[in-house]
Amino acid sequence: METEFDFENRIVSSEHTPADADVELSLRPKVLDEYIGQSRTKENLKIYIESARRRGAALDHILLYGPPGLGKTTLSNIIANEMGVNIRTTSGPAIEKQGDLAAILTNLSEGDVLFIDEIHRLAHNIEEILYPAMEDYALDIIIGKGPSARSIRLPLPHFTLIGATTRAGQLTTPLRDRFGVLMKLELYTKEELATIVTRSASILGLPITEEGALEIASRSRGTPRIANRLLKRIRDYAVVKGDGNIDVEVARMGLSMLEIDPLGLDNTDRRMLRTIIDVYGGGPVGLETIAATTGEEAITIEDVYEPYLLQIGFLSRTPRGRCATRLAYEHLGIRYPGSPNTGVEGQRTVFD
Ligand code: ADE
Repeated sequence: METEFDFENRIVSSEHTPADADVELSLRPKVLDEYIGQSRTKENLKIYIESARRRGAALDHILLYGPPGLGKTTLSNIIANEMGVNIRTTSGPAIEKQGDLAAILTNLSEGDVLFIDEIHRLAHNIEEILYPAMEDYALDIIIGKGPSARSIRLPLPHFTLIGATTRAGQLTTPLRDRFGVLMKLELYTKEELATIVTRSASILGLPITEEGALEIASRSRGTPRIANRLLKRIRDYAVVKGDGNIDVEVARMGLSMLEIDPLGLDNTDRRMLRTIIDVYGGGPVGLETIAATTGEEAITIEDVYEPYLLQIGFLSRTPRGRCATRLAYEHLGIRYPGSPNTGVEGQRTVFD
């Protein structure tokens, strides 16, 4: 489809792309004290880790949820590192057969972390293997077929499952209930992102001013993955168009060349808001309808675009669908149709 969106080329996408791999690895903090932001989650984790270590026990199973790019994988690696155990990483869609998961589970050692990304995409028959594994550290295997079939139970090491998901609501109740700890990661503040940008620049050996870091931070949609990606692009711009230093002017010019506006919105965000405003009178309009009109997938809109647009108050979610707010209209330079004649904001009148 012509309008289908290419994640690789969307610089403010919070999805992980192969081009991020090298930088993300070198920039990833290895211990909790290096991890910036998510302070409540971090404080709680410190206590759980310390307690498990003192008791010589495995950590409880942990579910990390929140929008993409906020550091769920990073945090899982830090947890394993702080516990001094190995981590085995996989993802919901990668586990195709029950045997795949059985093999992973039986190869774990005592205390190890099993990280399952996108855990909401696990097939149901595979999820069922996880229940006794999480609850009783046991693997139930059926041997034989028909009337002579019998089940044997294999013990598993005490491991910690860390599940990550962008959509906790899609987890089945039995799976969700088996996590002892549920942690929601929040979008980062501008100041936290500026600290991350400054730290990343220092690791990469890039000279950057405080204002330059803040400028990149304020256009990163609350997401470290985007901040680090923008830093790389602005570095290129600074090298070619300037003297290599990233100051506020270089950052602003580079970001405007990338068509990222002062709030971090790119063409796709603006197109989505314009669709709601121009085609559907500002809403309410259903998610599926926005998806069909913009050519994006509903799930992508919900996971990738919406969290930030909701956070900055440009979108509101109502039972009847999404609405563009006055702030969105103002940002796009479109007159808000709220009228003193009706006294009802957002309702069009014969004069509009
Ligand atoms: N890089 C990406 N996310 C980070 C975080 N939360 N803290 C420090 N560096 C990061």
